[in-house]
Amino acid sequence: MYVKKLKLTGFRNYKSEEFEFLPSTNILYGNNAQGKTNALEALYLFSIGKSFRTQQDRELISFDENFTRLYVEFEDRVRTNEIEIVVRRDRKKQIKINDVPISKMGDLIGKFCVILFSPDELNLTKGSPNARRRFLDIALSQMRPKYYHILKRYNKVLEQRNNLIKKLRFSPDARAKETLFVWNEKLSEYGIALIEYRKSFVEKLYEYSKQIHKEISGEEFEIKYKSAFLSKEEFKEKLDTSIEKEIEQGFTLYGPHRDDLDIFTQGKDIKTYGSQGQHRSAVLALKLAQADMIYEEMGEYPVLLLDDIMSELDSVRRAYLVGKIKNKQVIITCTDADEIGMSSGEANLIHIENGKII
Ligand SMILES: Nc1ncnc2c1ncn2[C@@H]1O[C@H](COP(=O)(O)OP(=O)(O)OP(=O)(O)O)[C@@H](O)[C@H]1O
Ligand SMILES: [Mg+2]
Repeated sequence: MYVKKLKLTGFRNYKSEEFEFLPSTNILYGNNAQGKTNALEALYLFSIGKSFRTQQDRELISFDENFTRLYVEFEDRVRTNEIEIVVRRDRKKQIKINDVPISKMGDLIGKFCVILFSPDELNLTKGSPNARRRFLDIALSQMRPKYYHILKRYNKVLEQRNNLIKKLRFSPDARAKETLFVWNEKLSEYGIALIEYRKSFVEKLYEYSKQIHKEISGEEFEIKYKSAFLSKEEFKEKLDTSIEKEIEQGFTLYGPHRDDLDIFTQGKDIKTYGSQGQHRSAVLALKLAQADMIYEEMGEYPVLLLDDIMSELDSVRRAYLVGKIKNKQVIITCTDADEIGMSSGEANLIHIENGKII
């Protein structure tokens, strides 16, 4: 799929601006703090309805405005689509797809697929397990609508169960405690479904990424999904027998919300032993593998958003990436357009200054 047009009104430092993109390479360049990442953030919003920089939608609205309106036009295999997002300071954001308002975020996810690479994405291999679960949850939600629905149910049950556990911690109540077993049934049912989805996704991702990683760096690469449970029965049994401990601690101790991914380069845990360059290669391999999987399963390549990463790659990795993104749509940001090594004949160059295209 590819994005043709992006219109921003009152978004971050953009008053009113319209971008036109080519289905190939687009380079947003300009000095620091001019609005390059803001434009990528806007595009990303159409993919999952949330920013990669903030949980607070209000922050997206220009300082001196009361609302922001974003509009995108993109092409998929079937047709031209439009999505509009309006965020007001005092209301829930409103989203329309092809002019029809949607009521649930689940209706948006998976329509417009992007993959983001940025220096912050190195958290995927360097950061806490939370960053890796987030990666899995977003990747799977984009590819499997059913996953997103189960995840929502799981989180709801988890929240209710945690509330009950917190209550029981301060005021013991035998009857209320009995209802925990009902939550255990639900939590283990949804939980094991999430674990199964994640496991099979990671197995496939491993197949794709180890090859790409080898091509990028010549090094061995491995990822494994790490879960405490193999079956629903095992998960439920653990919950049933841990109730006292959980009440003492005040929250749910077991389940896929605490799972992780193990990632190894050259047989060593990357989180503990990885060099800066090894982290970059791993994240690049994972993201490119994810893009290939989306292509294989959905018949469409996602739009690649590369924020500030070219300057961080050595010439071998940069050349590999440039080769890999040929014939795909990419939107790249950088301070100096020359660093990408493409002329204006090969790429669509967009110069940004102070929230304006100049
Ligand atoms: N809600 C907002 N309203 C107005 N301006 C904002 C808002 N949020 C951020 N900005 C401004 O946007 C600018 C940053 O934009 P952005 O992050 O896109 O920069 P950039 O071009 O990617 O720069 P760099 O090269 O440093 O990464 C800052 O000047 C910031 O003050
Ligand atoms: Mg930036």
